[in-house]
Amino acid sequence: MGSGYARHSRIQHRAADYGMPLLRRALAAVALPERGAPFRAADLGVAAGTNSLEPMGAVVEGVRSRTGEDTPVTVVHTDIPGNDFNTTFATITGSPGSYAHRPQVFVHAEARSFYEPLFPPAELHLVWSSIAVHWLSRVPAPVPGHIYSARATGEVRRALREQSRSDWEAFLTHRARELRPGGQLVVLGGASADDGSSGADGLMDAAVAVLTDLVGRGLITSEAWARMTVPTWNRTREEFLAPFAAGPAAAALRVEEHDLVTLPDILFDDFRATGDVRDFAERVTAFFQAAFLPSLLSTSAPAGDDGGTDAVAEAFADGLRARVAADPEAVETHWRVVPLRITRL
Ligand SMILES: C[S@@+](CC[C@H](N)C(=O)[O-])C[C@H]1O[C@@H](n2cnc3c(N)ncnc32)[C@H](O)[C@@H]1O
Repeated sequence: MGSGYARHSRIQHRAADYGMPLLRRALAAVALPERGAPFRAADLGVAAGTNSLEPMGAVVEGVRSRTGEDTPVTVVHTDIPGNDFNTTFATITGSPGSYAHRPQVFVHAEARSFYEPLFPPAELHLVWSSIAVHWLSRVPAPVPGHIYSARATGEVRRALREQSRSDWEAFLTHRARELRPGGQLVVLGGASADDGSSGADGLMDAAVAVLTDLVGRGLITSEAWARMTVPTWNRTREEFLAPFAAGPAAAALRVEEHDLVTLPDILFDDFRATGDVRDFAERVTAFFQAAFLPSLLSTSAPAGDDGGTDAVAEAFADGLRARVAADPEAVETHWRVVPLRITRL
């Protein structure tokens, strides 16, 4: 995520709202630790931490409403090593009213991919992961002429779908080992409708038009452009549910609840109300920059070398703002989310 994630993650926050009822039911159902022993929770894919305050606050409340105020609670926030954990901790410990200020709450972090083992066996009571598992562990092949997996066809589409399948299976297999019997896993998965559309295809097409223009102006090399990919795959509900029917996770995990939610476009709704197209263009651009631009631009310069990426980022932002302002309807975006509540048997 880009450095602006804390300020431009209202859309992801809105998605997490759909997970809160599942989280509350998970907290009512979860097998509790023995008296005096800690309740251990994990938040996988924390980013800046902004959207973790509410769910982790609910974890502390929910556990203590069942056990009493003296139960220790540990929360481990994880992300990939490149995440800015300084910002994460500044949010979590610096926000007034944060769950982290409650007595007997212990906050930790782990910098490792959730497609790998993260905890010893049977360590955890509850896992929360919001809008993170659509990020793939690797991109098997770039999408020719585009940056977005939903626009891939043929062999490349098959390879991306297969990567998504094996990543999701790895995620579930590790969590099945790490959760205690009676533990709960709540996942809000970035999703697609049954026809494979993620609801963001217009926004991604607009980004491609801007990037193509930057290639034409010589700001991005054609080699870098050929590799540029948003490394995500938004699964259909069927793809999310497949590992529970057969495979290594099926015997250990049971899906209690699932749904497919289409999110409102809160930025477009504001634009409709105010008619302020410049503000809309600014906010759409800021969201895209925070969520996707860093992974796109990572192909345009060697690691550790800014290689002009700041200038490219600026030119991209100017281009996207102009494009959105010229045709706001084209980028109306309705992300889909599959909320899942899963029990470790
Ligand atoms: C869209 S943000 C969501 C952040 C937050 N959970 C929220 O709801 O706003 C996705 C986060 O998942 C992280 N992520 C992506 N792939 C990951 C992986 N393999 N392991 C751990 N975190 C990952 C990204 O680095 C990013 O911080």
